[in-house]
Amino acid sequence: MLRDSFGRVATDLRVSLTDKCNLRCAYCMPPEGLDWLPSAQLLTADEIVRLVRVAVELLGVTEIRYTGGEPLLRRELTDIVARTTALSPRPQVTLTTNAIGLERMAGPLAEAGLDRVNVSLDTLDRETFRKLSHRDRLPDVLAGLAAAHEAGLRPVKVNTVLMRGLNDHEAVPLLRFCLERGYEARFIEQMPLDAQHGWSRENMITADEILGLLSESFDLAPDEQEERGSAPAERFVVDGGPARVGVIASVTRPFCGACDRVRLTADGQVRNCLFATEESDLKAAMRAGASDEELAERWRAAVARKRAGHGIDDPSFLQPSRPMSAIGG
Ligand code: GTP
Ligand code: 5AD
Ligand code: SF4
Repeated sequence: MLRDSFGRVATDLRVSLTDKCNLRCAYCMPPEGLDWLPSAQLLTADEIVRLVRVAVELLGVTEIRYTGGEPLLRRELTDIVARTTALSPRPQVTLTTNAIGLERMAGPLAEAGLDRVNVSLDTLDRETFRKLSHRDRLPDVLAGLAAAHEAGLRPVKVNTVLMRGLNDHEAVPLLRFCLERGYEARFIEQMPLDAQHGWSRENMITADEILGLLSESFDLAPDEQEERGSAPAERFVVDGGPARVGVIASVTRPFCGACDRVRLTADGQVRNCLFATEESDLKAAMRAGASDEELAERWRAAVARKRAGHGIDDPSFLQPSRPMSAIGG
């Protein structure tokens, strides 16, 4: 079991498959991209599957989320998913993606046993998409979303980071778009994880603002039936239901107290938090010949050191040295 000193147990492993991405979302990375990790430093598919197996078999992890960067850029993705869903006990296997390439990959991924996908989508306007992500790929994203739904990956969740003056006028159309297609919309407070260090608390669109924007057009009621547990999204019933919309208020209503997550970076480092200031090097241990049990022991020790929360509001807060794309979203 991966238990920390506050009694939280990590059961949800988020694995970054690559730090590379084919978009340049403003809240994530600069238009010119970043210095990508050299490929010799990336875990191989076999190494990834081995660490995931250790997590599932020895550490009680029950959900595996593949992320990036952009996980669809990893050529072995379908194979990795198939080998993950074959583990026992079978974990839930999910993907967080920008959906470029999902049009082609949704079917094979569903066949490999992928349970569901979360897709980032910040705008429905092609020109705004190009401006926000520095790439003209909105049609690919929309086709990818439709293909995921078609392939039976359910629910399809849509992640939108609202940014002042850029896409905050699109909250209502984005929710409508999702309602019409049976996707679950989630609006996310932007966190200080961008490579450019351009985040500011004052400029962030808060959950209260998001709810205000949506309430102008929809009737929203807290979801009384739902046990929220460790889910980052607070869900609201839209216009009497059954549809729901989620708001992820990582900054103004942190859910760190219920956190059940642990991360593995594409270069094989365990991070006990998105905002961790230290990492534990499983890749080096593995390449030096560590046994499964030795890897598990290192992993337990890394999670035991997890801090109480992200501390974004602390005067001493420091942004992590890795940006979100290199940590895994
Ligand atoms: P599901 O609802 O179970 O599919 O997962 P999720 O919402 O956690 O996953 P997703 O990858 O779609 O992430 C959505 C958003 O959740 C991200 O944009 C982050 O804002 C937030 N998030 C994900 N992981 C963490 C975390 O460890 N800590 C915090 N504070 N926020 C997180
Ligand atoms: N703050 C909040 N969410 C972010 N994402 C990427 N960068 C940030 C940030 N700085 C989101 C993406 C993706 C999810 C994994 O994380 O939109 O959907
Ligand atoms: Fe790529 Fe995701 Fe970062 Fe956008 S947020 S640039 S899709 S890694």
